[in-house]
This record gives sequence, structure tokens and C-alpha cells, in this order.
Amino acid sequence: MTDNDLATLQQQAKTRREIEAAIVHLFAAEDEALQYALTAAKQAGLPQIQISPIQGKLLQLLAAACNARKILEIGALAGYSGIWLARALPADGRLITLEVNPDHANIVRNAFAKAGVSDRAEVRVGNALDLLPKLESEAPFDLVFIDADKPPYPQYLDWALRLACPGSIIVADNCVRGGKAFGKPEDEGTAGLVEYNKRIASDPRLVSLALAMDEDYTDGFAIAVVRHS
Ligand code: DHB
Ligand code: MG
Repeated sequence: MTDNDLATLQQQAKTRREIEAAIVHLFAAEDEALQYALTAAKQAGLPQIQISPIQGKLLQLLAAACNARKILEIGALAGYSGIWLARALPADGRLITLEVNPDHANIVRNAFAKAGVSDRAEVRVGNALDLLPKLESEAPFDLVFIDADKPPYPQYLDWALRLACPGSIIVADNCVRGGKAFGKPEDEGTAGLVEYNKRIASDPRLVSLALAMDEDYTDGFAIAVVRHS
């Protein structure tokens, strides 16, 4: 690579960062509560793997597009994405978020209280595969956001489809993973993601797309819309 090539790449990277910052500033600015959720997560030693502000706003856009009144989140982490989701709901809407770690669940509840969404956002503690069967009486969910452990992503998809209805939108995080979500699986986690992508891409009930759209365009959401038959 020549010095010139390098300079071009650096300029392109700088341009992308500036574009991202401008989009966040105009469309997806974080308020105090969202920033608090990030700070609280950091202080508690949680991994810094939250979705980006643009991804948070995209979740809100998708919730609006399907007129979401009931949202299910699988994997709450520190509540950052949950705040974006809950704020997309009408006053009588409901977010149920599933979290396996009870300590994390308390952090999530605090974050929801700080964001003023405790009236519509509820954390349920346990293994998602144990909790999901208990949600059938509360279905259908208009939007399902999957962002939990990666090996069971295909099972989470089965549940999402079961708990959805025509017009529902199923979003899953980390479905690009630097390209590992499309190749030959390297481990259980990538195997789950590869299988998830194959399934949503070929399921005739769904219109689906994986998008490389995180901060450095190496990971992102897979979005699947349940067709009206
Ligand atoms: C990991 C999990 C995530 O949900 C994410 O967004 C990034 C990384 C992980 O387990 O490594
Ligand atoms: Mg994730």
C-alpha cells in the first residue's frame, strides 16, 4: 500500500466518523437517562457491548413502522436498548425484557426508573428459553429484539415467530460479526448466528435483511418482517 492509499483510507475513515457523528447529533442524540445507563453499566463492570445510538433510533423507527404496542426483548444487559424501545411505545404499551443475570436486572430496573419508563417496561429474570414458553398468553408481540447469548439464536427465532403475528418485526443484534455470521461456523456462537441468518433469509414467512451498520460497519442488525400472507 502506498502512502497515498493510506492517506485515502484515513480520509475515508474520518469522513465516516464525521457522518456518523452528524447523524447521531441530528437523529439519535442520547439524553441523560441513556448516558446514565451506559455509565451505570460501566461502573458495574458489565461488558461495553450496547447497541449504538443509531441502532437505538432504528429500533424506535421499526417500532413506529409496525405500530408496536407490545415489545419483547431477549437479553437486557444494562437496559440501554430497553430505554430506546420503551420510549417508542404508547402510554399503554408494554416492553418485557428478559435477563438471565439478577444483578444486571437490578441495574436495568434502575435505568428504566431513571428514564421514566418503569410504568411500561418490565424485566423478567431467568433463562430466556425457560421464560419464553410462559409468554404465550401475553402474545402477540409486535416487535421482538434478540440480543442475548449467541448459540441459541435459532431457538430464539423459533420463539419470536411463535410469539409474533403478521406485520411483526424481529430484529437480532450481532448478525454480521465481522463476516463470521455468514461463513463456516468457528464456534457455538458463530454457529448460532450463521444458522439464524440462513433461516431468516430462506423462511417464506419473512422478508429479511442483515445490515452492517454499527460504529465501524462490521456488525449490525438482521431485520425480519413477518409477512401478511
Ligand atoms: C457480544 C455480545 C453482544 O450482544 C454484542 O453486541 C457484542 C458482543 C459478545 O458476547 O461478545
Ligand atoms: Mg449485541
